[in-house]
Amino acid sequence: MSKIRDINLYPEGELKIEWARKHMPVLNLIREEFKNEKPFKGITIGMALHLEAKTAVLAETLMEGGAEIAITGCNPLSTQDDVAAACVKKGMNVYAWRGETREEYYENLHKVLDHEPDIIIDDGADLIFLLHRERRELLDKIMGGCEETTTGVIRLKAMAEEGVLKFPVINVNDAYTKHLFDNRYGTGQSVMDGIIRTTNLLIAGKNVVVAGYGWCGRGVAMRAAGMGANVIVTEVNPIRALEARLDGYRVMKMEEAAKIGDIFITTTGCKDVIRAEHMLVMKDGAILANAGHFDNEISKEDLKSISKSVRKVRKNIEEYDLGNKKLYLLGEGRLVNLVCGDGHPCEVMDMSFANQALSAKFLKENHEKLENRVYNIPYEQDLRIASLKLRSMGIEIDELTPEQRRYLSDWREGT
Ligand code: ADE
Repeated sequence: MSKIRDINLYPEGELKIEWARKHMPVLNLIREEFKNEKPFKGITIGMALHLEAKTAVLAETLMEGGAEIAITGCNPLSTQDDVAAACVKKGMNVYAWRGETREEYYENLHKVLDHEPDIIIDDGADLIFLLHRERRELLDKIMGGCEETTTGVIRLKAMAEEGVLKFPVINVNDAYTKHLFDNRYGTGQSVMDGIIRTTNLLIAGKNVVVAGYGWCGRGVAMRAAGMGANVIVTEVNPIRALEARLDGYRVMKMEEAAKIGDIFITTTGCKDVIRAEHMLVMKDGAILANAGHFDNEISKEDLKSISKSVRKVRKNIEEYDLGNKKLYLLGEGRLVNLVCGDGHPCEVMDMSFANQALSAKFLKENHEKLENRVYNIPYEQDLRIASLKLRSMGIEIDELTPEQRRYLSDWREGT
């Protein structure tokens, strides 16, 4: 059972998946393991992830391990319809298309839950929230969930602290082999890629304002600077602000940055980061892009309320006419890397999704021993993924000698 845009789009989707698979060696090794062990035999996995080619490679890996898959998107604009069609051809239950309304988005999450999943794989935690809010009859059957992103993890931890989380959740985001690479190098590249593809404008010489200096902000600032931009960082956390300054960027309040920025990129995970008071002092032609999970970092309500008219001027670019100037919003203020591009590069999603696949297996094998809280992934899993990735890149590293091992553990011995 599936509901997608058009099944005839599948050949293009299959080619995209084939390309992604070829560049995801760690996930391919896990797939071989799953093929032999069938860890998910008899298990249904409900997934809400950005439905593009790399996600399809994760889903087919889980299928290879014996899982039945029910999948939807985690953003109304990030699904690639050809990939969704190819997933249906592979035998998955798919409920997703690009351009879903809010109602359709929630209907599709419900349709995934109608399959009564045993394990949840989420990006932004919408499936897990829906289970706790409206589908509580299904909670008892759930072994656990895996969460992909910072935004989801923050709220899931809040739920656990309140004692209302009803199954264990694995925090995939905080794995070293996830956030150090996906959030930093993945976001850094894919956000600049999305902006450049969409605008066809030069980055060199521009004032690029990066709101938020978490791992995503660090990555975006690094890549924008590497392309010749003058990077300005805005922050609310003094430690991160200091780090940004010592990394060589200008740091100031958004109200000051707003006056001089050419391109604004939000990466905070918080709402209303760019508001009317900022938009009103921006320069004519300023470009606004969001890289955070939700489309509330740039206040679209404020932008609409201060504008006289809006028109689409290019694919994925809306021009807001404020009378005395024009501002340009990319991808409707939704994740610019996925709405205006193809998401993170395959090689980083290889590690993120290797973490998802192994975390799902960990849940299957350990759920009875786990409490209803948010767990970090086992460090050994991180080490294993990093080792496999290095091997796939043809890189060998040193090992401690027995003497060095003794030296590091023996506190009695002098230097
Ligand atoms: N592709 C699939 N999931 C993604 C994510 N969370 N971020 C970027 N690209 C992705």
